[in-house]
Amino acid sequence: MRLGILGSGKGSNFGAILRAIQSGDLEATVEIVISDVPGAGILDLASAAGIPTHTLIEPRYKSRLSPEIEEELVRVLQAAKVDLVVLAGYMRVVKEPLLKAFPRRVINIHPSLLPNFRGLEAWRQALEAGVEKTGCTVHYVDSGVDTGEIISQTEVPLIEGDTPESLHARIQAAEHHLYPSVIRQLAKENR
Ligand code: GRF
Repeated sequence: MRLGILGSGKGSNFGAILRAIQSGDLEATVEIVISDVPGAGILDLASAAGIPTHTLIEPRYKSRLSPEIEEELVRVLQAAKVDLVVLAGYMRVVKEPLLKAFPRRVINIHPSLLPNFRGLEAWRQALEAGVEKTGCTVHYVDSGVDTGEIISQTEVPLIEGDTPESLHARIQAAEHHLYPSVIRQLAKENR
């Protein structure tokens, strides 16, 4: 399975996917890593691993893409012959151009047990709501924000004295197991 990764941040989930591939736990290749943020950590990680990178800047909007830029994104992913588009901390909503070009082939990871706590800083939302447990979710992407069909989830309990930072770190540790394992499952089904 040929993966295209999209990310805006440090890329720790991409790093976990890469480690799973390198250790033979995941039969996949990362064909390209694309970011909307020049100099993002995820691009450095990719370059260090010898993986091609592409920076696609959106000058007009903060949290979505103009259709022309999204069409360019599709062209880059298609040129890399990607089977699955993996959003790993990509901070923009994607729409028709991408979703039509890759039907049921775009997945995302979100730091809550969806449908609870969609949107930004979901760990902080969970802490402020006083829930007993939260977690992370891998889901297919649709044109909403964190609304697509759920593929798999891992629960993370809150513990006494949790801060947003401590809770976020535990959720991320769970993400680093969940995301490679879901991609492994999809790769098996893709064979
Ligand atoms: C993850 O926590 C993920 O749930 C959210 O964005 C974050 C990306 O982190 N969608 P990283 O760049 O993979 O470290």
